[in-house]
Amino acid sequence: MINDPVRPHPAKILDIFPQTEMEWTFRVESDVPVRHGQFMELSIPRVGEAPISMSGFGDGYVDFTIRKVGKLTDGLFEMKKGDTIFLRGCYGNGWPAERFQEKNVVIVAGGTGVSPVKSLINMFCDDPAYAKEIYLILGFKNSHSILFNDDLAKWKSAKHFHTIYTLDNEDYEGWNKGLVTSFIKDIPFASFGGNYECIVVGPPVMMKFTGAELLKNKVPEEKIWMSFERKMSCGIGKCGHCRIDETYVCLDGPVFNYTVGKKLVD
Ligand SMILES: Cc1cc2nc3c(=O)[nH]c(=O)nc-3n(C[C@H](O)[C@H](O)[C@H](O)COP(=O)(O)OP(=O)(O)OC[C@H]3O[C@@H](n4cnc5c(N)ncnc54)[C@H](O)[C@@H]3O)c2cc1C
Ligand code: FES
Repeated sequence: MINDPVRPHPAKILDIFPQTEMEWTFRVESDVPVRHGQFMELSIPRVGEAPISMSGFGDGYVDFTIRKVGKLTDGLFEMKKGDTIFLRGCYGNGWPAERFQEKNVVIVAGGTGVSPVKSLINMFCDDPAYAKEIYLILGFKNSHSILFNDDLAKWKSAKHFHTIYTLDNEDYEGWNKGLVTSFIKDIPFASFGGNYECIVVGPPVMMKFTGAELLKNKVPEEKIWMSFERKMSCGIGKCGHCRIDETYVCLDGPVFNYTVGKKLVD
């Protein structure tokens, strides 16, 4: 157990699971307690540091699903099983899991946005008594950018799950075609008797239009939860990098109710 929450500590890469050419899942040793939707700061000395969400966690490990976009992530993609990276955290509030208990949950996620909500979806899947019915709309750009194939299949076959998987602009067997926003009207909101919550995660433009579409379908703002990826540095509310007005995304978020999050949507 690591006691100092701001001091990076060494952690061994236990395994690497390529998902696509540009996105790999790194399983890293860790015994730090994690809440669904939190993030850690990952670093390689003399290379860089970046905040990354946990896409999964279990006994003695955490999973990070990482898109190769720059200094730190390029460095990570050079590493192999058995190499050492550095971690600090966990940070952030994570999903308010208790709010979802015994409710219908609508989850709309796009691309790497599936990552910060994946462990929560697996919790809903593995414990059918926790929430009620789960309505999942997941979108990816095309068949080459699909993540978490095994999890997608598991969720699709779960009795209490209603899944809509879609690709933005490709015809592909077993998949719908179109943006996630075009399927929101298919969710039977009126049948929920008000007993539901919505989760939205994805690129800023997707979150903006998904939020607008949910409101159009008469979903109250209070029932919408979003996770944000703002530029961060310290991750602990000290440097101000992530600050928008009075809000520190690293500390107060990254998960926000839409009543607050709507001011953070670009
Ligand atoms: C809470 C949170 C959770 C996150 N979770 C994940 C996750 O689960 N998986 C994931 O892959 N990412 C995640 N991110 C995003 C990740 O932290 C960023 O992509 C991070 O910048 C990657 O670090 P890097 O050093 O590899 O990239 P950087 O070197 O910082 O580059 C990042 C981007 O900036 C651009 N860039 C770099 N330098 C310049 C420059 N000089 N001028 C203009 N553009 C430049 C790059 O092209 C690239 O698009 C998360 C972010 C937050 C805040
Ligand atoms: S990242 Fe430093 S204050 Fe949020």
